[in-house]
Amino acid sequence: MPTHAQMIEQFDTHYRLGEDSMDETHHEFLQLCVQTLSARGEQFADRFATLLEHTRSHFAQEEARMRSSAFPSSAEHYMDHQRILGEMDRFNQRVHEGRSTMARAWLADSLSSWFDLHAKTMDSALAAHLKDQN
Ligand SMILES: [Fe+2]
Repeated sequence: MPTHAQMIEQFDTHYRLGEDSMDETHHEFLQLCVQTLSARGEQFADRFATLLEHTRSHFAQEEARMRSSAFPSSAEHYMDHQRILGEMDRFNQRVHEGRSTMARAWLADSLSSWFDLHAKTMDSALAAHLKDQN
């Protein structure tokens, strides 16, 4: 599985969906993941919290566009967002209690695998649907 840094390098060929605002948000998301993983101590906690807020707004933006465009697979997509946001929220609480080891591993392994699959399937389907409507 590629790291977040490798996903940034491969962004144009593997992750760019051709929907500008989604692409911009996804690129920012990957950069925040890299910046969080490169941090230590309190800076890791601050960056993890920033990543959580960015992700909350990233998902809310996609969900608003699913609603306004009557995207057919919105329930499944929404559930996948909620699952990841719930995990990220729980890890954020642990990090702020000074327990960051599991959060760091989750971010490096699970979140990168999740993004790889989610971007190539659910987000790709949403981007195609949005482009069809234009
Ligand atoms: Fe999504």
